[in-house]
Amino acid sequence: MLGLALVLVFVSAEIRQPRSAEALAGAELNLTCSHGSLTTETIFWYRQFASRGPQYIVSGYQGIVNSIDPEGALHIPEDRKSSTLSLRRARLADAAVYYCALRDTVGQPGAAPVQ
Ligand SMILES: *[C@@H]1O[C@H](CO)[C@@H](O)[C@H](O)[C@H]1NC(C)=O
Repeated sequence: MLGLALVLVFVSAEIRQPRSAEALAGAELNLTCSHGSLTTETIFWYRQFASRGPQYIVSGYQGIVNSIDPEGALHIPEDRKSSTLSLRRARLADAAVYYCALRDTVGQPGAAPVQ
């Protein structure tokens, strides 16, 4: 299948939860992290390309926060038990390890990029 973008998601530190998601190039792709019981933490999303440092994408507390690169939005429901990074149009260039984190540092990587 040409143009398949594969990404791995994982929750750092407290909740380790590797997940993968895939979509055809050009399609919307949702990456969802479950957070269990959150208190007051802001939710951060990062991504990391092979042999590069983590790159901040977007953060939020609740509701919808737009993301410019990659184009899309972070959705955090009222109960804050999950967060969904929605990429408007997944591209091969978006293939990376995506992290959701509960603070502005990324925990130890527990997953490798896949393509
Ligand atoms: C992605 O998530 C958004 C927000 O929850 C939703 O509106 C949309 O339908 C989802 N898209 C897919 C492809 O699951």
